[in-house]
Amino acid sequence: MNRKVTVVGAGNVGATAAQRLCEKELADVVLIDVVEGMPQGKALDLAEAAPIEKHDARLTGANVYDASEKSDIIIITAGIARKPGMSRDDLLSTNAGIMQKVCSQVARLSPEAVIIVVSNPLDAMCHVAFDATAFPKNRVIGMAGVLDSARFRAFIAMELNVSVENTHAFVLGGHGDTMVPLPRYSSVAGIPITELMSADQIERLVQRTRNGGAEIVSLLKTGSAYYAPASAAVEMAEAILKDKKKILPCAAYLDGEYGIKGLFIGVPVKLGAGGIEEIIEIKLREDEQAALLKSADAVRQLVKDLEKLKGRS
Ligand code: NAI
Ligand code: 2OP
Repeated sequence: MNRKVTVVGAGNVGATAAQRLCEKELADVVLIDVVEGMPQGKALDLAEAAPIEKHDARLTGANVYDASEKSDIIIITAGIARKPGMSRDDLLSTNAGIMQKVCSQVARLSPEAVIIVVSNPLDAMCHVAFDATAFPKNRVIGMAGVLDSARFRAFIAMELNVSVENTHAFVLGGHGDTMVPLPRYSSVAGIPITELMSADQIERLVQRTRNGGAEIVSLLKTGSAYYAPASAAVEMAEAILKDKKKILPCAAYLDGEYGIKGLFIGVPVKLGAGGIEEIIEIKLREDEQAALLKSADAVRQLVKDLEKLKGRS
């Protein structure tokens, strides 16, 4: 294949993303992790499935970055994941150090790549990646809104007993408890869910979406969600590789849009070959805008905590 995607972190999200990327024949895949033998083993295992899955994507596993050179996209899932009782923010210090190291390597070898950040706490990790790569803002993108919206869509489909394919949903804001699901912009076959469900029903689904990550953590007990997160990162990669101009909610660096400046946060963007090609500013009601600004405050606090950590090191 003539496209290359490097996935850094060959754990649950990374390996599942690699599987989806090769099975969709989107690109050759390089899987990188610090654990010796593990990315090599997973890449070989996936390559041995290729004759059955019928794809010709090449898979490489490595502990060093040479094979990642000239990647079109780098998906970063390296880090530690949540355990029961931990919030995404508890991961801040450890994952910031990992993100910094990973980004300096990938930026040197793939200076034209688009970075898709997955590691948590997501919005803060986008800031680390943005600083460490010094890439333009359109080429550093965070994955969260696609996952949170997919969860909202799944819950809408379950509630109304309709096909998930008929559902659309938008979840904006930071990837945390303050995320902002937007029922007004969520629909089934084009019909806003506000016309299909009671306010109580919608509120229940909104809360379940906000708690979506923690719900899986409390069931798994040893880690966090990975099937849906991997699907979400790959949907973003596909939109970029195929220059689809797809509108998706992603963490983007805002420079005044939505009244927010100098911060990564989830908003609708157009994804194409250039990464983020446009930030779509939808009209928000006063309460929705207030919720987005509250979410931005929570992200800003984490970014401040990051600065403090940097000052200490
Ligand atoms: P995992 O623990 O299964 O995998 C993480 C992998 O990163 C491990 O294999 C580990 O060895 C590797 N790693 C650690 N330091 C590294 C380094 N310096 N270089 C390369 N690899 C390194 O965790 P999982 O479940 O795959 O989650 C990964 C991250 O993604 C976590 O931070 C998690 O919170 C986050 N996440 C974010 C989501 C989102 O919506 N943005 C959704 C799901 C997970
Ligand atoms: C999730 O939402 C843990 O952020 C991860 O599942």
